[in-house]
Amino acid sequence: MQKDFTKVFDIISETKGDILDVGFGWGISADHFYSNGVKSLTIIEKRKDVYEKALKWAEGKQNVHLHFGDWIDIIPSLNKKFDGIYMDTISPKNENFSRNKTKEEYEKVWEFYHTSISKEEWEQYQSFEDYAKLISKENCILCIFEYTKFRKDLNTESLQVYWGNDLSIPRKHDIGFTYYVGGEFRKNKFYESKQLLTENLCNKLIKDNKNNLKFVEAEKEIDGILHQRKFNYTKLKYNSELEEILNKSIFSNYKKVDLKNLWCGFIEYNEGEGYDRHVETIKGLPLDDSEQYNTLYDLTLNDDYEGGEVEVFDEWYKNDRDTFSLVKPKVGECLIYKPYQHVTYRKVTKNKKYQILIGVTNKDLNKKLI
Ligand SMILES: C[S@@+](CC[C@H](N)C(=O)[O-])C[C@H]1O[C@@H](n2cnc3c(N)ncnc32)[C@H](O)[C@@H]1O
Repeated sequence: MQKDFTKVFDIISETKGDILDVGFGWGISADHFYSNGVKSLTIIEKRKDVYEKALKWAEGKQNVHLHFGDWIDIIPSLNKKFDGIYMDTISPKNENFSRNKTKEEYEKVWEFYHTSISKEEWEQYQSFEDYAKLISKENCILCIFEYTKFRKDLNTESLQVYWGNDLSIPRKHDIGFTYYVGGEFRKNKFYESKQLLTENLCNKLIKDNKNNLKFVEAEKEIDGILHQRKFNYTKLKYNSELEEILNKSIFSNYKKVDLKNLWCGFIEYNEGEGYDRHVETIKGLPLDDSEQYNTLYDLTLNDDYEGGEVEVFDEWYKNDRDTFSLVKPKVGECLIYKPYQHVTYRKVTKNKKYQILIGVTNKDLNKKLI
């Protein structure tokens, strides 16, 4: 079996969240989601015999929820939102979902995929994206088996679809996925994210810096909108472990950086404090100037606070004040965005939020030469 076989299932499971699997079939996707340890797995299956098979499969498994029926009826009645949705409902009506097929049986299945399904079925299939909007959390990943047949701007991964030995039958299928961001399924989120720091290191960074803070407060009206910032700030105390982690992850394709030469702030927000729609580009400097910021790395050090979510907007020149990605990062998670995007740190409503912000300029990024 090829290695990339499960890649797309792994991408969905990486959310470690609530997953919806539409169409049980062989139970292959369900098996993967479940064994990858997602928070919950919900399955919708229309065929009675397959649903019963799914019931048997789910016996003794925690946090698995099964729904019998057509997704078009079930989805509007679901009282739940998801972090990941996998949709794969096309198969021959009489498919027996055996994983051990003869060559002839595989050929028959493959023939089916090359004859078109009815116009009505295809229309229903393509409407799935709209239905998925009803049940998606912000940043939910949506993966549809035949997405590439009706949408172009997609991320894609290859899925291995044949488990036998007949090389004449195609083995790969390009499968598309998008993210639910600001009310639409989009190819890209407005930010990237990496899990970088351990909880221990986060606690150490808080301990080492929290007694050096100074209160910063400023406000300015731009285009009739009041921009406010209130927080406690200090330059980050040098930490070699953090430097090593950054050099192994963010800077792995560049020459090593010395953390002391980067702009690194340690920030604390108390109740009622936040930061409204900031843009970090250095005004007056072209984007390709060596001193200009290239990327911002926004590290979250704790999660025992309320409020304080991060709104990452699309590029500022689009001047869209309503469309943003909303995220509450996990401990040790690093959000990555461009300095010319608007970002709001919503006010903290309980406890304190700690964050490290690292601004990397163009000159900090020295490509390694071969
Ligand atoms: C190709 S299989 C799913 C494969 C499965 N994801 C796996 O990895 O084994 C398709 C499944 O979707 C089910 N199905 C078809 N149309 C459906 C619908 N409208 N609602 C729910 N399930 C449906 C079929 O009965 C079948 O079990």
